[in-house]
Amino acid sequence: MSIPPLRQRSAWKSLETHHVEVGSRHLRDLFAEDPTRGERMHVEAEGIYLDYSKNRLTDETLRLLLELAEESGVARRRDQMMAGEHINVSEDRAVLHVALRMPKDAQLIVDGRDVIPEVHAELEHMSRFATQIRSGEWKGYRGKPIRNVVNVGIGGSDLGPVMAYEALRHYCQRDLTFRFVSNVDASDLVEAISDLDADETLFIISSKTFTTIETLTNARSARAWLVEQIGTEEAIARHFVAVSTNHEAVAAFGIDTANMFSFWDWVGGRYSMDSAIGLSTMIALGPTYFAELLAGFHAMDEHFRLAPFERNLPVLMGMIAVWNRNFLGCASVGVMPYEQYLKRLPAYLQQLTMESNGKHVTIDGDHVDYQTGPLYWGEPGTNGQHSFYQLLHQGTSVVPVDLIGFAKSLNPLTDHHDILSSNVFAQAEALAFGKTDDQVRAEGTPEHVIAHRVMEGNRPTNVLLAEVLTPRLLGSLIALYEHSVFTQGVVWGIDSFDQWGVELGKVLATRIIPELDTNFEPELTHDSSTNALIRHYRTLKRKED
Ligand code: F6P
Repeated sequence: MSIPPLRQRSAWKSLETHHVEVGSRHLRDLFAEDPTRGERMHVEAEGIYLDYSKNRLTDETLRLLLELAEESGVARRRDQMMAGEHINVSEDRAVLHVALRMPKDAQLIVDGRDVIPEVHAELEHMSRFATQIRSGEWKGYRGKPIRNVVNVGIGGSDLGPVMAYEALRHYCQRDLTFRFVSNVDASDLVEAISDLDADETLFIISSKTFTTIETLTNARSARAWLVEQIGTEEAIARHFVAVSTNHEAVAAFGIDTANMFSFWDWVGGRYSMDSAIGLSTMIALGPTYFAELLAGFHAMDEHFRLAPFERNLPVLMGMIAVWNRNFLGCASVGVMPYEQYLKRLPAYLQQLTMESNGKHVTIDGDHVDYQTGPLYWGEPGTNGQHSFYQLLHQGTSVVPVDLIGFAKSLNPLTDHHDILSSNVFAQAEALAFGKTDDQVRAEGTPEHVIAHRVMEGNRPTNVLLAEVLTPRLLGSLIALYEHSVFTQGVVWGIDSFDQWGVELGKVLATRIIPELDTNFEPELTHDSSTNALIRHYRTLKRKED
């Protein structure tokens, strides 16, 4: 049965009418009318408690949003994804990151082959290697054990590994040093390796395609550094491994494919942290914690697959995001982890959300006549409070915020953690309820300052609360966001698994590289601005120091 375009779906039309009635209602009134709202409007799964009561919606809004999810075919699409159908239409691929975390005894046939044995064979391959590195059994070319691991990759081949390493540092082997190089700016590589002993250093070249110019440029320079330090190309085999889907390109680069870890084209870059792309994570954590991370992902996958929509964490989060984006008109979403170890989570989620749902055509290629993915950004609390939260509280744009907190610190120290956590609750409260002019006046504020101190409130938040950050919890949290992004993408009717928008910039940059050569200086045929910028760059480059 075909699904009508979004604006013609009956639930969407009902939501439009409903929005006229409730869209401008204040959270103060919604809470005053229903004192149990805060207790009712929550859902909990896999150790994650989501309080969504401080969103600008009513029970009726939720009912209609879930109706929209049904009418948009979220369940069908989810089942198609999990069955390995080619739901990445523009690239004609299955989308099966869920297979990466399925247990060994599961079965999943994709294009006529059960992929689960391959997934577990690769996990065992990673496990053997990680154990050899961690124990010091794997020796460098001159016999020293590896103590430094440098992951070289970009986008999904970097953000997942670095986020997971930072997030789970508490659980990592402390006598190993991890560095992550992504930017083609040489300073990234130079700063990452200049204090390392090459004899003790392993480079993991992570690239799904093994054609990404940033990664290959960094990998070539890393190889040159290692060969220079150790004095022979023979050292490469003990100090370089690759993670990729592209065996030929890995071999052409000079890495023995015996030192290669594989994954499959049905794993998107931004969904790959639990594939072999997570090799650095497994070396840092060890196979047991890595298995717990995967178990956390899988548990949330199962929740997404089985829970009824009204208790389904990713569906609820996804549909509330649709409400905020399409009906309240919020163009940006903030994510603020009140957990220092999650400091790279916002960057990770930026790729996950924006590369997935930053699309302007539907799967059928029609231009959308509604908004799709919002801007996504964030910083750990409480730092953000002392910089940009001012705009969240009193700016002219409404920015919904996800506040992520934990009941226990991994580093309990005096009263730090309660001070930190008090801010999670206080910020959600302040954003929702603000401060009226009567309240400000009652505090004895001089009349001319009152307007400045009034806070309108009515700013939506999701509060996500868990006991403590563990590998399992991190897996569930990431899977929650993955499936929330999926849910939004299905409603918007877009392909959340391609990323054609990044291609043009790559092509143009490739054309410009030779034009920056000051010895050659070819004629320029760009627009007048680009030509002028390139000429000015050449002039600056030619200047004597
Ligand atoms: O340019 C975007 C992108 O294709 C991402 O989707 C991907 O995660 C990243 O580049 C890196 O790609 P690769 O792993 O193939 O080097």
